[in-house]
Amino acid sequence: MKPQVVCIDDIERYALDNLNKSVADYYRSGANDEQTLAENRRAFARLRIRPRFLRDVSQRSLRTTVLGQPIAAPVCASPSAMQKMAHPMGELATAKACETMDTIMILSTISTSSIEEVAAEASVAMKWFQLYIYRDREVTRQLVERAERSGFGALVLTVDTPMFGHRLADSRNGFCLPPHLRMANFVAGAQASDAIQNRPTDGQSGLSEYAQSLFDPSIEWKDLRWLRSITRLPIVVKGVLTREDALLALKYGCSAILVSNHGARQLDGVPATIEALPEVVKAVQNRCEVYLDGGVRTGTDVLKALALGARAVFIGRPILWGLAYDGQSGVEKVFSILKQELDMAMALSGLSTVTDIANQSTTSSSSPLVVSENYYRSQL
Ligand SMILES: Cc1cc2nc3c(=O)[nH]c(=O)nc-3n(C[C@H](O)[C@H](O)[C@H](O)COP(=O)(O)O)c2cc1C
Repeated sequence: MKPQVVCIDDIERYALDNLNKSVADYYRSGANDEQTLAENRRAFARLRIRPRFLRDVSQRSLRTTVLGQPIAAPVCASPSAMQKMAHPMGELATAKACETMDTIMILSTISTSSIEEVAAEASVAMKWFQLYIYRDREVTRQLVERAERSGFGALVLTVDTPMFGHRLADSRNGFCLPPHLRMANFVAGAQASDAIQNRPTDGQSGLSEYAQSLFDPSIEWKDLRWLRSITRLPIVVKGVLTREDALLALKYGCSAILVSNHGARQLDGVPATIEALPEVVKAVQNRCEVYLDGGVRTGTDVLKALALGARAVFIGRPILWGLAYDGQSGVEKVFSILKQELDMAMALSGLSTVTDIANQSTTSSSSPLVVSENYYRSQL
């Protein structure tokens, strides 16, 4: 009998209590001292919502679009690696759940279900493919071609990972993929598949060694031209945290930017994503859509991100907690909770649609929907 869960933190607690320790540590941890990991949550808590009342909120809708694709609510699934460690159906359960919930799933390059298996599981344009660029460009090109052939709607290029950040628990645990699972996007025998099964050097994470030997740390912005030249798919750049990189992403032809710090798993000490969002939104000036992930756990977090200019948010770990809780149903539960919470947050702050959130934020600087806690302190 599953315990009753009423918020994402309940689902997280269940997952952490029930997953194997090495897997729970891998999913949960951030880099080094985990300062940014904590800040991803704390920075949301430092924001205040200024609610407005008597504005007829009897009819509400959470529907919106991302890259022209209609979705039920502005909450989608970030890519996270190796989901079959959380549940035997892994990425296939996530794909099904996203289809049922009418939202976008981003499939990781280093998934335990293949591009083709996921494509067979859920309708096409609702899936985007996250790309790591391998030193062997032919490996990368084949991934892109397969995603395109399988009907994925966009490529999501992760730019914050020339190598993996240092997650201490993974090094202590000598984390590597359990032997019954595979990097499903690569044929057995290929280095990109089998290197993850190698026993890591003492005091190292196997995944970290995998990335170090295979990912290309020499990539530059101009390589986006190469990526553009081999695909017709829109490119979402994931991992931007500064106005400078936002402008470069635009210059090199991205279709959208996902403000992300990789769930605080790369460089400890970078800002919380909700802190970095306004700078990116301001630089982009509506020339492309901007999304956010990192620390989104409640409906009010979603409202705050949208108020600060995100078109939609993505969630990483909550998907894994949902899988560990109850597979496809668990992931659906995660999305349902966030939808209900967002719906209530909108009603209680006088907003009927997702567009109302964006409009109130952009048109009324004298009457902002979301402010820093300092706004109130400075008036004391
Ligand atoms: C266990 C785990 C695996 C991840 N794997 C990937 C990945 O393969 N590719 C990628 O671009 N991001 C990856 N991420 C980062 C997520 O896409 C996302 O940016 C992050 O989890 C969002 O923060 P949140 O977990 O607080 O929602 C991973 C995150 C976690 C926690």
